[in-house]
Amino acid sequence: MNKKKNQTEKFEPFNIIVFGGDGDLALRKIYPALFHRFMDGQFINPFNIVAITRHENHDEIFQLKLKKFISESITSVEKHASEIETFMQKVFLIAAKNHNALEYKKLSEFLNQYKNYQNIYYFSTPSSAFGGISRTLKETNLVNPHSKVVLEKPLGHSLESSNEINDQISQAFNEKQIYRIDHYLGKETVQNLMVLRFTNNLFEKAWNCENIENVQITVAESLGVGSRAGYYDNSGALLDMVQNHLLQLLCLVAMEPPNILEADQVRNEKLKVLDALRLFNKKSVVTDTIKGQYTRGNLNGEEVSSYLEDIEKYSSKTETFVAIKAFVDNWRWKNVPFYLRTGKRMKKRYSEIVINFKTVKHNIFPSQEQMSNNKLIIRLQPEERIELVQMTKIPGPGGYRYKPISLKLDYIDSFKERFPDAYERLIIDVIRGNQTLFMRQDELQAAWKWTESISNSWKLVNQTNILYEAGTWGPGDSIMQGEDTWVTKS
Ligand code: BG6
Repeated sequence: MNKKKNQTEKFEPFNIIVFGGDGDLALRKIYPALFHRFMDGQFINPFNIVAITRHENHDEIFQLKLKKFISESITSVEKHASEIETFMQKVFLIAAKNHNALEYKKLSEFLNQYKNYQNIYYFSTPSSAFGGISRTLKETNLVNPHSKVVLEKPLGHSLESSNEINDQISQAFNEKQIYRIDHYLGKETVQNLMVLRFTNNLFEKAWNCENIENVQITVAESLGVGSRAGYYDNSGALLDMVQNHLLQLLCLVAMEPPNILEADQVRNEKLKVLDALRLFNKKSVVTDTIKGQYTRGNLNGEEVSSYLEDIEKYSSKTETFVAIKAFVDNWRWKNVPFYLRTGKRMKKRYSEIVINFKTVKHNIFPSQEQMSNNKLIIRLQPEERIELVQMTKIPGPGGYRYKPISLKLDYIDSFKERFPDAYERLIIDVIRGNQTLFMRQDELQAAWKWTESISNSWKLVNQTNILYEAGTWGPGDSIMQGEDTWVTKS
């Protein structure tokens, strides 16, 4: 194990109990994240991982899967064979299908052996199960003031259902014990947004409607819906991506500086942004949003099926692409459009924030064609980097010719270390009790309110999907390419 000095902060001993413990998310993200932190020597105190699954007598299959996913998350299995072995001995499986008191007896017996450990309950099931699980945990005396609960999205499918789920969870846990995960907030490049904005005077001075023309936030995915058809078809791109990830990115770009980096200070500022988002109505939803669905197409030389074929439901009206022109109605951002775009089966995977600055007020080079504006491009993934596009003189005698050239900071070149996965950071924050990167209930409500102004208006005007071929940039094609102009629908 690597005992890195700066990472050996002592945690209390803990049990992490993962409901939905043999699900895709647990296997792909949660256990590998815990394994990496273990491997880096961060867990000096004892810990246990309990996977709660719906299946009886499932141990052998589970162990095989666990080993596979952990092995896939590291570069050399041979090198870490003994660590994998030790880690796997810390993972215990308990079956509970109906989440009743009888089933939780085994869990209770297990946890009672470790009375001085903090218990972290990680709900990685559909959110419809959250209420029942919390209730039984409370009934069986498994919740105490040191317990925490981690909630995976989506928290409901509307403001109302989200509030209901929250009311049920609040019967067992108070707000200080609840960690609502949005994994985008755990990404290194997303955290760097706060550092970029609040440690560099240069940017902060120009960060307002006087100087910024528009902001573009794009999360393009080349993947389709994979094995998540059932879930995705009830959500669509608006609920799956915009309501959480894209809005959180928008908050980090638009928020005022908190007076200190503490959970409630940061979350208060994000809430102000969410509250200032202009709500949509029947008119603006038509002019300022686009929804689309992918058809068959060619993705990097490979024929891929349509969304309807992928989900095997040919009448679905669910959107797999959405583009929104949003406004934050406050002093700093008056009339600055925030273009939010996300889609599945796009030409390639990339997430990026582009800050388009205004051009200079007066051009002193009258012989030159129109000059370009400065752009700050924050590439979140992949090829993480920051670029500042600026006008530069083209060398040559006599006269002035210029063109836009980028100053580039490549994360990979500047930081040689491995980038921890978002879940590593977030799980450690839960163990430490730091809620800064987790959504508070009032933030969630404000995000729902705005999102519902779109989904409800879509219903009222019967807005239909524009079809786009898989492997392209979506409806209107150019709107995913970071262009400054909004494409009007024809
Ligand atoms: C999830 C969505 O929250 O984020 C998925 O449910 C999406 O549909 C994923 O694919 C994208 O995450 P990342 O980290 O791959 O950009």
